[in-house]
Amino acid sequence: MSERVSLFYLFPSALTLHKTQHSRASALSRPYDNVRGAAKLANSWWEIQILCEPANEELIFWRLESFGCRGMASEIKGNSCLIRTYLPQEQAQLLDLAALSLWLRQDALSAGLPIPAMQWHIIDEEDWSSSWKKNWHPQEIGERFLIYPAWLPLPEKTDRLILRLDPGVAFGTGSHATTQLCLEALEMRLGYEKTDAVIADIGCGSGILSIGAILLGARKVYAVDTDPLAVRSAKQNRNINKISEKRMIVELGSVERLKELIEEPVDGITCNILAEVIIDLIPHFQAISKPTTWGIISGVLLEQAKPVADTLEQHGWIVATLWRRQDWCCFNIRRS
Ligand SMILES: C[S@@+](CC[C@H](N)C(=O)[O-])C[C@H]1O[C@@H](n2cnc3c(N)ncnc32)[C@H](O)[C@@H]1O
Repeated sequence: MSERVSLFYLFPSALTLHKTQHSRASALSRPYDNVRGAAKLANSWWEIQILCEPANEELIFWRLESFGCRGMASEIKGNSCLIRTYLPQEQAQLLDLAALSLWLRQDALSAGLPIPAMQWHIIDEEDWSSSWKKNWHPQEIGERFLIYPAWLPLPEKTDRLILRLDPGVAFGTGSHATTQLCLEALEMRLGYEKTDAVIADIGCGSGILSIGAILLGARKVYAVDTDPLAVRSAKQNRNINKISEKRMIVELGSVERLKELIEEPVDGITCNILAEVIIDLIPHFQAISKPTTWGIISGVLLEQAKPVADTLEQHGWIVATLWRRQDWCCFNIRRS
């Protein structure tokens, strides 16, 4: 077995699976963006396969991610790299895929790399989730957490908090550096004394941070996400972890929805999205905060730390600590 490190994940297997980390603004319209409930959610997926030079892998990941792809796997095939990625069928027409192929070609040409070969076909959601599930294993994070795939039997003995997950198509398996940094920061905030904190989790994805906060003793969490698939997944994971609907409120939307939901300012905010999204959200944090509110902000690449820090400062937040892992950083903030 070989071990590979990639832009997003490290898996101890020859086949490296990457759950897509950040749903960036997609180049495509998303027909289900404002749909509530599961009726119109994706069941069929495009599986896109790209054969490329290994040196082109990271560039291709970024392109696929900004296109809205949800899961990525890469495998070394001889001297080449085979990337597989997934996209809800409704999200792209054949013409869109042809455009993606053109972009990949242009990216490679501008980087002076050989042009990758791309092909695609439709698969069922079940095939997609079962293929990456095989490669996802329990993982200890920080001092307290054990992230545990929901389909595995529970360990007989552990002194860790077991956070059970079936992330489905949502982001948040705990494999990504930003999620780990946020869980460790939550542990620091809530893990060492009794707490009855109320938390807002913006961009909840699979619900991993919300559930983590509750396992550490938070009284209530408001979890929001603009992606209906993430909302569905967070609700499922809330049930898997036997958390009541009243204690973990999961809703479609963002900070505007939070403003409607909360009864009083929250004690803590977690927000692991992308720098450009966070910069837009920061001005709204005040409306859900009080003088003692703290925040855990991640999803920010090191080179994007300065504009995020500047925006925080402009809106009355102090960066208490800045943690880094790989290329990513996590801000622990409090009101000034
Ligand atoms: C990187 S994932 C984080 C998931 C999980 N909280 C974690 O830490 O692993 C970011 C999530 O933010 C959501 N998102 C993106 N823009 C958003 C916005 N403006 N408001 C709320 N959620 C957003 C995405 O749909 C995605 O599920």
